Amino acid sequence: MMALMRIADFALERYFARWEFAVEHLLCASDLQGYPMAELLALADPETRAMWDGLTLGYTESTGHPVLRREIASLYDGLGPDDVLVFAGAEEGIFCLANVMLGPGDHAIVTWPGYQSLYEVARATGADVMLLELREDADWAIDIDLLRRQLTPATRLIVVNAPHNPTGMLPDRATFDAIVAIAEESGAHLLLDEVYRFLEFDAADRLPAGADATARGISLGVMSKSFAMAGLRIGWLATRDRDLLARCAGFKDYTTICSSAPSEVLALIGLRARDTVLARSREIVTANIERLDAFFDDWADRFTWVRPRAGSVGFPRLTVPGVTIDDWAAGLIEAAGVLLLPGSQFGYGGNHFRLGFGRTDLPVALDRLEQHARHTLR
Ligand SMILES: Cc1ncc(COP(=O)(O)O)c(C=O)c1O
Repeated sequence: MMALMRIADFALERYFARWEFAVEHLLCASDLQGYPMAELLALADPETRAMWDGLTLGYTESTGHPVLRREIASLYDGLGPDDVLVFAGAEEGIFCLANVMLGPGDHAIVTWPGYQSLYEVARATGADVMLLELREDADWAIDIDLLRRQLTPATRLIVVNAPHNPTGMLPDRATFDAIVAIAEESGAHLLLDEVYRFLEFDAADRLPAGADATARGISLGVMSKSFAMAGLRIGWLATRDRDLLARCAGFKDYTTICSSAPSEVLALIGLRARDTVLARSREIVTANIERLDAFFDDWADRFTWVRPRAGSVGFPRLTVPGVTIDDWAAGLIEAAGVLLLPGSQFGYGGNHFRLGFGRTDLPVALDRLEQHARHTLR
């Protein structure tokens, strides 16, 4: 519990706490437009419909409903239900994993800029955390040589988020294989945060899951992003390292103990209907990214745009001299009720901002942004 006392604020979550429900349009959300409950229930098969209708609201199995774990395992090539541990969102999985794996004297390497808890919880355990910086001038690609140089004999965990928040970067297969090989040689575990997996714009670009790629690989998944069900708060860790999962399960006894019973059944329905659910998500992001491409084409002299290869977020940069993105984003809220997420919320300078394109109001939000840009950036 020391970790809880020393942990720094989660800047992005504090920012969202201030603005998410105070603006009209979130043009920086990373989740997909929430799936309508009635439509989800209509996708239930007879077994899951009976589970829903007959549900009683007691505690659930702390590792996750066995039928749900079996369905999650089927997302991977060689895993079974006992290789999966269910959590209240990906966030709880990150918290438990870092706390059981890391402590003073341990070393971890984490891709950055990125989702703060991936490195902040690790730091709060007392571990030495090194940030593996991605750079716009390299199209945000992971620098394999840098990763190799950052390794120390104490490196216990390498954390890679791909598809990546906030850049939309997806490593090519050679880079992915190199990361796996480095992890294997070093003896470190490899946490692959794959919460945006299945949102590759070209399905041929989909990478193997971390849990399938190597024995010490750990896949982090969640219903929030590709599956458009953030409100369920259902996520999971999947790995063939059962001893590690058992230790995480022990830690979870001090966080949530077990998952929400209704959410488990709804997640199961969503995963069984994943072809339908994912097709909807891909339709949303594909339509939106085309609009963003057109916008950034027109505004190429004011913004950079490294086109994401997957996921629901990207990380462009405002290049107008003398205008900071923090000020411009504040003006955009005021004038147009549209929320951007300045790079400063990731501790990352350089006038970048996160755009989210998983929401169906993107066309309206982008029109408003463009109107504001016409008034302020010409
Ligand atoms: C890369 C990444 N990992 C983990 C999470 C946490 O997911 P959840 O909020 O569903 O627990 C997020 C959410 O934004 C994320 O972007």
